[in-house]
Amino acid sequence: MSAAENAPVHSRISEEALNRIFRDARTYRVWRPERVPGAALRELYELLELGPTSGNSLPGRFVFLVSEEAKARLLPAMDPGNVEKTRTAPVTVIVAYDMQFIDQAREAFKNPNAFSGLVDKPALIEETAFRNGTLQGGYLILAARALGLDCGPMSGFNAEKVNREFFPDGRWKANFICNLGYGDGTNMPPRPPRFAFDDACKVL
Ligand SMILES: Cc1cc2nc3c(=O)[nH]c(=O)nc-3n(C[C@H](O)[C@H](O)[C@H](O)COP(=O)(O)O)c2cc1C
Repeated sequence: MSAAENAPVHSRISEEALNRIFRDARTYRVWRPERVPGAALRELYELLELGPTSGNSLPGRFVFLVSEEAKARLLPAMDPGNVEKTRTAPVTVIVAYDMQFIDQAREAFKNPNAFSGLVDKPALIEETAFRNGTLQGGYLILAARALGLDCGPMSGFNAEKVNREFFPDGRWKANFICNLGYGDGTNMPPRPPRFAFDDACKVL
């Protein structure tokens, strides 16, 4: 085999990109005042939606709160420690999942038999929606960082209150909430430690 045939299909992305998306990326809790353009939210969605989900189920749903009125509907559901960071963030996303993702996928992709193994199995539907919707929330964080946005993900909120306020018909359910914008890096605490490879991984 020639050297060219042995070459990997893709080269690594740049160190700068790796630093931005992973090594230097932090959870932000204080925000600079610059707004996030509406076009950036669209671009963010178009990138995150390309991440893989089982059977292309795409159960993740995303509610971008940008107006003061929309924020005011969310704040009473946030834990006290998460109120101010959410109030001041330029954008707050409710990362949700759709319990009727099967219907939407069947209709959109013109495949009336898609996910037939899940039909009438609510526990399996919920597991599939939650697993893949959570992955899509992770893709959102990485895509945001790739676009130069900073994130502040949060699970400190009352999901029942959020669901009642934003999803009263019960079809979508809140998974986690993520502030987005341009983080203020002054007075950042040091990054919390991570586990070493041998403490969290096995190679079998
Ligand atoms: C799903 C999820 C929920 C989180 N919930 C909160 C939260 O409610 N409030 C908060 O201040 N930070 C929250 N965080 C941020 C984590 O505490 C933070 O990512 C972790 O300590 C690592 O810090 P780093 O991202 O700066 O490296 C959450 C992060 C994730 C991914």
